Amino acid sequence: MEASADVWPPCQESHLLIVGLGLIGGSLAAALRQSGFKGRISACDPNPSEIALGINLGLIDSGGSQLTELLDGVSMVVLAVPVLAMESVMSTLSAALHRASEHVVITDVGSTKATIRDCAVRTFGEMPPAMVLGHPIAGSEKSGVAAANAALYINHKVILTPEPTTDSDALTRVEALWRAAGADVLQMSVERHDQVLARTSHLPHLLAFSLVDTLARQDERLEIFRYAAGGFRDFTRIAGSDPVMWRDIFIANRDAVLSSLDDFEAGLARLRQAVESGDSDTLIATFDRASHARHYFDTLLNKTSYQAEYHMQPHGKVTYRVQPGGQAQGRLRVPGDKSMSHRSIMLGALAEGVTEVKGFLEGEDSLATLQSFREMGVAIEGPHQGRVTIHGVGMHGLKAPAGPLYVGNSGTAMRLFAGLLAGQAFDSELTGDESLTKRPMGRVADPLRLMGATIDTAEGGRPPLRIKGGAALKGINYDMPMASAQVKSCLLLAGMYAEGETRVREPAPTRDHTERMLNGFGYSVSREGDTCWLQGGGKLTAGPIDVPSDISSATFFLVAAAITPGADITLEHVGINPTRIGVINILSLMGADLTLENEHEVGGEPVADIRIRYTPLKGIDIPVDQVPLAIDEFPALFIAAANAQGKTRLRGAEELRVKESDRIQAMADGLAILGVEHTVVEDGIDIVGNADDNVASYGGGRIDSLGDHRIAMAFAIASLRANEEIIIDDCANVATSFPDFVALAQHIGMRVSVEGANDA
Ligand code: S3P
Repeated sequence: MEASADVWPPCQESHLLIVGLGLIGGSLAAALRQSGFKGRISACDPNPSEIALGINLGLIDSGGSQLTELLDGVSMVVLAVPVLAMESVMSTLSAALHRASEHVVITDVGSTKATIRDCAVRTFGEMPPAMVLGHPIAGSEKSGVAAANAALYINHKVILTPEPTTDSDALTRVEALWRAAGADVLQMSVERHDQVLARTSHLPHLLAFSLVDTLARQDERLEIFRYAAGGFRDFTRIAGSDPVMWRDIFIANRDAVLSSLDDFEAGLARLRQAVESGDSDTLIATFDRASHARHYFDTLLNKTSYQAEYHMQPHGKVTYRVQPGGQAQGRLRVPGDKSMSHRSIMLGALAEGVTEVKGFLEGEDSLATLQSFREMGVAIEGPHQGRVTIHGVGMHGLKAPAGPLYVGNSGTAMRLFAGLLAGQAFDSELTGDESLTKRPMGRVADPLRLMGATIDTAEGGRPPLRIKGGAALKGINYDMPMASAQVKSCLLLAGMYAEGETRVREPAPTRDHTERMLNGFGYSVSREGDTCWLQGGGKLTAGPIDVPSDISSATFFLVAAAITPGADITLEHVGINPTRIGVINILSLMGADLTLENEHEVGGEPVADIRIRYTPLKGIDIPVDQVPLAIDEFPALFIAAANAQGKTRLRGAEELRVKESDRIQAMADGLAILGVEHTVVEDGIDIVGNADDNVASYGGGRIDSLGDHRIAMAFAIASLRANEEIIIDDCANVATSFPDFVALAQHIGMRVSVEGANDA
């Protein structure tokens, strides 16, 4: 599915003929009128009173009931008749158009596309290049031109299903027509359209018709409806729709409807069984999955979701505008740690018993992990304000998901899942978004294969990953070629399902949340020096998890305070695991005034409040041993470097090139726009700071975050010391790790505003 670019020519049809003046055709006329459409609009309808009403309402200029008489001078014909009436309309049209101008574009609004295409091929002898089939996903249970509504298509989708032979000019004109009516236009194949619509529209209509009919028959006097309240009303509204139109749709889209009905019946049978046997886990799991899927659907509709932005607006419409200057003051608590949030769900799902999680990050990355476990049959309640309850299914209790598991933007989810799924009895597939699809997965697939797993990747070891179930895994002794907590964690998770011992040696210390949390769940992981190991065949026991604030999110505010004269910020309850505190060490080496307060431990992880006050920074050579300990913090640290006195030199950081973007290049490109002197090398960068308390450190400009959350947030913080506005494009992805970022940035005194989110 593809959304089209933003700038479109206006609709310049000279004469539009709508065949079938009902709700859909009438609303199109009304919408065009309201958009200032200059052309003529006429209509053909067998019912003269609909035509008269259309003229009276000012929707059409003229009309009649004989199609052949209405075609003179027409530039575009919109077929808005019921699906089964298409055949006769098209034959009339085909005969008449042989005599008329060849430049007439034909489109339709039918709810199924394969039958209409077949009909066109039958009547025209081929699919005419000037015919563009389409389907507005909008409507109402009302019918007739009297119900015409000029706003019916605003922000609704119209799906066009062009053929390879479709004339591109005709396609552009039909697209312009719907855009003038206020719709978002998408394209997909006829086959995909019919399958998607069978599930999202036809099946729900069938169910609504059936439920109302069943109840009405059971109670001939319709007495029961007197007591039917909101639930009945909401579920059955569409049963009031036009019967002829729907009969046609079910006849036309028979096969796709039958297959969606089979799936539905199987689901219903599972629920029936659960109700009958009082199977509370299945009921809660099903309802919880559905309830969250429904909320997710709402966020798609409201465009509040990164996933929605990704799927529907491939160009990432969310833009930050940050005014130069501002303050960095106050106490704040940033959301929960992303790494621990992922792991809490994974281990909680595989544990025996119920795991209660507090402080869970409700970002889209960790939510993708949570959703994936729901799809594997785990009952999960929440998240509600960071609280999640996971009903563990035990090491062997996961069920095969119905389709590929989609983990969005999250490298951590994909790599950790790879290990965990390699140990399952069922086949699975992992997919992700465009950024994730470019990231290397050979680093986990290769050692998993050494353990005996069968994993297919796309070319170059990229996603999707296809993992064969039922493999007999064997423990290995693995010397990691790169310092990666994700690879280490992947192998430890697979190691739980392997025979014997799995040992991983890391070339430099990486975050050890997996080891700590496994031990917390009673699964023993040992460590000596640079190597950790576990024995396969153990089990996990549920327990409470308190996720501290994410030091990677806190970093943006640490840097904000470190570069802003007069700043004083305290970040509460931040995780200060020794494998994560590279940023504290590096900022301290640069001279930052940073203190830890209220240090204590929660659930096996150290936490503290971090207070940071402004004092001038100096450039340093970043110690190479700090690189893995600050791997996610470099975009923000580059901004610190741009505000330090002298040169900051980073080496040994080639891993930055394979994060959500190539972070060395993405940051260098942004720094160049701001006018910050720097030199890029393969594994790092030199940045020359230009610090002076009394003047700005650099200019402003428009920066592309390349859909990378940390690049977006880093340049937002940079504006505290810019002399002009910084505009950052493609920021929807901030929701993957830090959904409240903008609100907290405003809270400390930054002047940031957001464009493009919720602009439905
Ligand atoms: C993570 C490990 C790091 C980090 C990522 C989260 C984890 O990646 O960059 O954001 O949760 O294990 P690598 O282990 O690949 O360096």
